[in-house]
Amino acid sequence: MPSRRSPIDLIANVTALDRAAGLVRDAVHKVLQPGAVKNALHGVWLGHALHPALAQMPLGFFTAATALDVIGDQDAAAKRLIGLGIVTSVPAATTGLADFAEGHEEQQRIGIVHATLNTVALGCYGASLVQRARGRSGTASSLLGCVISVASAALGGDLISRHAMGANHAAEVPHTGPDDWHELGLVNDFTTDRPARRMAGLIPVMVIKQSTGFTVLYDECSHMAAPLHDGELDTVEGERCIVCPWHGSAFRVDDGAVVHGPAIAPQPVLDTEIREGVLYAKVRTFAGVPAS
Ligand code: FES
Repeated sequence: MPSRRSPIDLIANVTALDRAAGLVRDAVHKVLQPGAVKNALHGVWLGHALHPALAQMPLGFFTAATALDVIGDQDAAAKRLIGLGIVTSVPAATTGLADFAEGHEEQQRIGIVHATLNTVALGCYGASLVQRARGRSGTASSLLGCVISVASAALGGDLISRHAMGANHAAEVPHTGPDDWHELGLVNDFTTDRPARRMAGLIPVMVIKQSTGFTVLYDECSHMAAPLHDGELDTVEGERCIVCPWHGSAFRVDDGAVVHGPAIAPQPVLDTEIREGVLYAKVRTFAGVPAS
C-alpha cells in the first residue's frame, strides 16, 4: 500500500516560504514578550489553545453571510454578518500569530499560507461590503471569500491534526508510562539542581533533585517535545520552574503546571518513592483510577 501524502505536505516543504515566515515570526517575537499577554493569547489561562476556538467566529459569520447571499433577498443581514466576521477576525488573527511564531519550520510554512489566505478572504468580504454600500451586488466577492476561507480552514485543520500544532505532546504519558514502580537509579547518583534524563520503561523522564526532595517529570515538553532536561531551572513569576530550551515554556517543578507558554498543557509528573537508597517512579493516576 503506497503511503499517502496530503497535498498540504507539499506546502510544508516549500522552503521559499521561509523568508516571509521568518519576517512575520521575528515581528511577532519583537512585539510579544513572555508574560501575561503572551500567555493569554496562547490560551495558558484556559489550558487550551485559544486560536482554534476564536477562528470559528469569523469563519461562521462569513460563511453564513455567503449562504444568505446565495439564498437571496437577505442583504441587510448578510452585511451585518460580514461586519461581525471582520471584527472577530482581529482576535482570531492575533492568537493565530502568537501560536505561529512558536511553531517549527513546516508548521510556519503552512501557517504563512493559512494567514495569507485568511487575509485575502478578509479582503474579499471587505470588498463585498464596499460594493453593497455603493448599491451593487457583493455576492461574487462574498462567494470568492467563502471559498478561500474554507480552503484556509482546511490548512488550519491540517496544522493541528497532521502537523500537531497546539497538540499536547505529553498526552499519552498516562498510557505509555510505567504503572508500577520503575527504578531510576541510586539517589546519590543525582546532582542537586541538575536535571537528569532517565528512562522509565518506555518513556523518557527528567529527574530533578532539590534540597527538598525529588521530582520526576516527563522529559518531552508538552508544547513540542523538546528535551526538558536540557532546559534551565529558574524562578519564574516567583515559582521554581524548568524552562524549556526551545520556546521558553516554564513548568512549575512541583506539579508541572504551566507558568509561561506557549505550552498550554501541564507537564506530567510521576509519583516517586525511595527505597534503600534507590529512586523509583511510576505514572500518576487520577484520583486513584489506574491508566488504561
Ligand atoms: S518545545 Fe516549545 S516550549 Fe517546549
